[in-house]
Amino acid sequence: MKLAEKSVNAILAPLVRGLGLNASGEALAVVPGPAGKTEGALQADIGPAVRDGLIDEKDAAAILRDAAAGAGAKLPSSVHVKADGEPLGTYWMDRTLDAARARMKRGDPSPLALEDGRGTRENAAGALCPPGASSRSRADVVKNRVALVTGGAQGFGEEIVRGLAASGALVFIADLNIKGAEQLAEKINGALGKTSALALALDVSREESAEEAAAAIAETAGGLDILISNAGVLKAGSVLEQDLPSFTFATGVNYTGYFIMAKHGGRLMRRQNRNAPLWKTDIIQINSKSGLEGSNKNGAYAGGKFGGLGLTASFALELIEYNIKVNAVCPGNFFDGPLWSDSEKGLFVQYLKAGKVKGAKTAADVKTFYEEKVPMKRGCSGQDVMRAIYYIIEQEYETGQAVPVTGGQVMLH
Ligand SMILES: NC(=O)c1ccc[n+]([C@@H]2O[C@H](COP(=O)([O-])OP(=O)(O)OC[C@H]3O[C@@H](n4cnc5c(N)ncnc54)[C@H](O)[C@@H]3O)[C@@H](O)[C@H]2O)c1
Repeated sequence: MKLAEKSVNAILAPLVRGLGLNASGEALAVVPGPAGKTEGALQADIGPAVRDGLIDEKDAAAILRDAAAGAGAKLPSSVHVKADGEPLGTYWMDRTLDAARARMKRGDPSPLALEDGRGTRENAAGALCPPGASSRSRADVVKNRVALVTGGAQGFGEEIVRGLAASGALVFIADLNIKGAEQLAEKINGALGKTSALALALDVSREESAEEAAAAIAETAGGLDILISNAGVLKAGSVLEQDLPSFTFATGVNYTGYFIMAKHGGRLMRRQNRNAPLWKTDIIQINSKSGLEGSNKNGAYAGGKFGGLGLTASFALELIEYNIKVNAVCPGNFFDGPLWSDSEKGLFVQYLKAGKVKGAKTAADVKTFYEEKVPMKRGCSGQDVMRAIYYIIEQEYETGQAVPVTGGQVMLH
């Protein structure tokens, strides 16, 4: 039987992770390893699910589920998968990536101990938030969840990566700027003393790149719980003057890039959902206040962001079948981030040079002018955006929404 090794792990690891999520109601990491030692592992033969050298993921999921049913409430920490007797691989499961890797190294198939009150399917639905409980701590909301943040190397993306990692998530920092992503991952892992962040090269405007990134995540951690579609670019320009390449460049990242990421991240979440139907996952687009109101001489940006909200609502209707919630956050301006505050290329310096703000003598004057437009008299921060992200993830009864975080600059209408 000939099967491409790459696709085997990208398909089987999320199906195995689904078994673990379903049994425990807790986020886990699954690491694919060589077929090697199989004693004590849950055994499954997916031969009947292979046709013309391709794995039918629905059928393979059912075979794995049947094999796991015999394991009762015990959570199998290693699953050995064959196809018509030929070994395909062994998948090692534990609460964190480091623990799963260590388990694989030790060849330790002992069942995972479940925390009190866990180990039933109902937990996967929402036992993490008992009825009547007040808001959970941030760590409880994202602990051990696998997250992907596009454009995570700087700006809002970096703030989100830092926030999620500090709260116990495993975060893939996916960016065009792979050097920046690697440096950030190194800093975070050094500070936290464990593998909390991993860099991934990604161009959200290219479908092959997104597909490869989703496969890499499945092969590294076994699945995906949170997709933050944050990568964005701005090319301002008058509708009467802007050249078409500038317009399509902005739209290609901000609008089409969101579709591409939701497609490939969503497919990975659906795969995991096949064996964990009650486990909820989140796709969150970092939109903008420019997705809620027009932006003068900035139509490419605002148009793409308005469109992003249409995609959010439409994807939400479709993907809830797989328990994937889809929402957007619409932040106000991040004046302290590099887009605005970079001392050479930042918008404050650019606007000062262009004389856009009458009477402004310094970049600080330009900043004050823009802060005055906000009822709360300051720009949006990474913390402000993180609060909205935690709300969306914790709120299990909402999808297809846009949460404004604008300091009152854009109000309901
Ligand atoms: N900065 C603001 O004031 C502001 C306000 C509201 C909303 N937003 C939104 O927040 C998001 C982040 O904005 P920011 O200002 O922090 O951006 P930024 O320019 O500081 O960082 C963007 C990151 O995305 C990466 N990137 C760019 N194109 C990419 C691509 N094709 N594939 C993968 N990565 C790519 C860049 O390398 C960079 O690391 C964007 O969606 C933006 O529209 C920003």
